[in-house]
Amino acid sequence: MLMLDRESLGTFSEVARKLDSEFASLPADKNQSPEMARLAEVLGPTAERLQDNYPYFHPLYAGQMLKPPHAVARLAYALAMWINPNNHALDGGRATSAMEKEAVAEIASMFGWKNFLGHLCGGGTMANLEALWVAGQLHPGKKVLASEQAHYTHKRISAVLQLEFETVPCDTRGRMDCAALAERLERGDVGTVVATMGTTATGSVDPLAEILELGEKHRFRVHADAAYGGYFALT
Ligand SMILES: Cc1ncc(COP(=O)(O)O)c(C=O)c1O
Repeated sequence: MLMLDRESLGTFSEVARKLDSEFASLPADKNQSPEMARLAEVLGPTAERLQDNYPYFHPLYAGQMLKPPHAVARLAYALAMWINPNNHALDGGRATSAMEKEAVAEIASMFGWKNFLGHLCGGGTMANLEALWVAGQLHPGKKVLASEQAHYTHKRISAVLQLEFETVPCDTRGRMDCAALAERLERGDVGTVVATMGTTATGSVDPLAEILELGEKHRFRVHADAAYGGYFALT
């Protein structure tokens, strides 16, 4: 299940060597080549300590919202670690930046999007941070609204970005109550509304079409948080 059998590790070692061969002319770095005995000394106790966990990696584990990357993805990630890229700029990770663009295009095509712009990030929290940062730049000093079922990151991130945050009540099915939203909008000062496309607690989906319609009238930015629900659009 872990793909840590002899065959997959053999394949991994082969491809890692292949990657390494491109850089064979570089001077050796002794600090990066620990003696094998010392390696086991360090990794052995680490593995033991890591046993003190719930089986987050198991496909049947449902205690937290953690779904394991595919075993192939884990090995590919370890392979990429070898070259320590950083996609912040094209020259910080030439090959991985190209791969990132391909991955974004493939994800977009899974949603049927032809027109898209995006990048990969470390998860929903970071995606929300970026989205609310943009929101704050576009509507400085204006409020961020999200339903009372929205993920807690919105409130926290608004505080980090020094944007005022307010909650909008939900209907009996845990969706943003658009009548309450419309009433709140009449009082003005709203820069952004977060629509949660699948709430963390119940999976309820905010009425995006109605929220967008209100956005036309009140000129606020809409951030759709699909961290949880986006996946279901693909199934
Ligand atoms: C709706 C929603 N937004 C954001 C997040 C945060 O995502 P992450 O844990 O990937 O940072 C979650 C996580 O459960 C979520 O359900």
